[in-house]
Amino acid sequence: MESDDDRPRPGPELCTEAEVERLVHGFYARVRADAVLGPLFERHVDDWPEHLAQLVDFWSAMLRGTRRFRGAPVQRHLALPGLDAGLFARWLALFRATTAEMGNPVMREVADAAAERVAGTLLARYRVQSGRPDDGNAGA
Ligand code: HEM
Repeated sequence: MESDDDRPRPGPELCTEAEVERLVHGFYARVRADAVLGPLFERHVDDWPEHLAQLVDFWSAMLRGTRRFRGAPVQRHLALPGLDAGLFARWLALFRATTAEMGNPVMREVADAAAERVAGTLLARYRVQSGRPDDGNAGA
């Protein structure tokens, strides 16, 4: 079994800022082209450059341990109507397809694990808010 110490960690050596940007921009290109997620994002994002910059800061924190990100992801997602396990699974599938093409397997491992963890937290919080705590699984 893999111990905690063998697992790759976030840090500046995991990937470059340019790789973080490539991940975020590549992922959002997929999201915006997606028949289900695309229209949902278009409805809720007014300022794409600002959103992308915010997401670069978020993923830079998750992957490289930088501290630029200032945001409130839980509150932002709680305010979105109609999120469910199917949407989160779709989001994760597009994310994993993007990290798989990055050519940096260690970054991919850390990014996929972080995405799954955060998706699980966001979905759990969302369900508590909407009174349906036990409805399926985002990662499945
Ligand atoms: C079904 C899945 C998801 C949908 C539809 C979704 C949609 C959105 C939308 C529309 C916004 C902009 C909200 C606003 O500016 O008011 C947003 C913000 C954001 N999302 Fe998601 N999201 C999903 C899952 C995730 C996951 C799994 C992560 C992280 C791993 C994530 C990270 C973020 C972050 C960091 C922000 C910016 C928060 C802020 O500005 O404070 N999202 N999301």
